Amino acid sequence: MLCRKCKEKAVINLRQYNLPLCKEHFIERYISVVEDTIRRFKMFSRNDKVLVAVSGGKDSLALWYVLKKLGYKVTGLYINLGIENEKGEEGYSNMSERCCKNLAEKIDSELIVENVYQKYGSPAPLLDRNRAPCSVCGITKRHIMNEVAKKYGFDVVATGHNLDDEVATLLSNVLRWDEEYLKRQYPVLPAEDGFSKKVKPLVFLTEKENLAFCIFEGIEFYHEECPFSKDATSIFMKNIWAQIEEKMPGSKIRFFREFLEFRKKFLSQEERKDLGKCSICGQPTTAGDMCAFHRIISKIKVQHN
Ligand code: AMP
Ligand code: FES
Ligand code: ZN
Repeated sequence: MLCRKCKEKAVINLRQYNLPLCKEHFIERYISVVEDTIRRFKMFSRNDKVLVAVSGGKDSLALWYVLKKLGYKVTGLYINLGIENEKGEEGYSNMSERCCKNLAEKIDSELIVENVYQKYGSPAPLLDRNRAPCSVCGITKRHIMNEVAKKYGFDVVATGHNLDDEVATLLSNVLRWDEEYLKRQYPVLPAEDGFSKKVKPLVFLTEKENLAFCIFEGIEFYHEECPFSKDATSIFMKNIWAQIEEKMPGSKIRFFREFLEFRKKFLSQEERKDLGKCSICGQPTTAGDMCAFHRIISKIKVQHN
């Protein structure tokens, strides 16, 4: 196979576009997809302070690297969720943290680390044992991202959600025809009173493309999946998508692009006016006077240090 652009030997074939590329042209295309996405959805400018939420995995580290390379003002945020901390240095969270620190050094970028175990005395997924671990963990991550963005005056929080994440979520939302979730599924969520603006610059790139980018650019990332997420719905949805994509290449990107058009035409985008304020942290909430995170925290014995 030869690179479509230069006719050198291709190292990757993007089957969804029937596009074989050499390393150089793959990287060039990858970077331009990220830039186009940022511009098209007015995510941020070079004057904005961007907080990149990094998990230590390939997607968010690729994002941090590419944004820095493009000259944006980026700072990484790693939330150490305390997962498998009992294994000390070898635990999932600590290993991921190390990958984030290594990249911070490599690209000479600042990294903020928040540690849930140290602050609340429990791994994030187990802060409330009556709830599904991933749900508690998700609430905790979102809360901390908002908290840090507000505390240090960031204009926007960027996450590494990729096309595979988006179509997996989209399929779940469509199976339930969940209008509220469908309305909120978009590459940009504007700042709402107390919530920071959230953006996903990698939504048009697949996991495979992010993986290839990390390999080609020598970005070291943590390969293991979170031990709590083994049977998560999103993994099930991703397996279904792999089968669809195998039979009909290009289905993922088409499904997502068409959804964005559909959303524009058929789903109204009025701002949510029903948000209250959490009496503890001030973040917006749809339920009473305490946000989901503080409802969890108020139930456990908080360890202050
Ligand atoms: P996930 O919810 O694990 O699929 O991750 C989605 C995105 O959330 C990642 O691409 C990151 O941008 C961000 N993220 C996930 N885990 C963390 C973490 N521990 N610290 C900071 N950001 C995270
Ligand atoms: Fe939160 Fe797995 S990363 S439960
Ligand atoms: Zn080429």
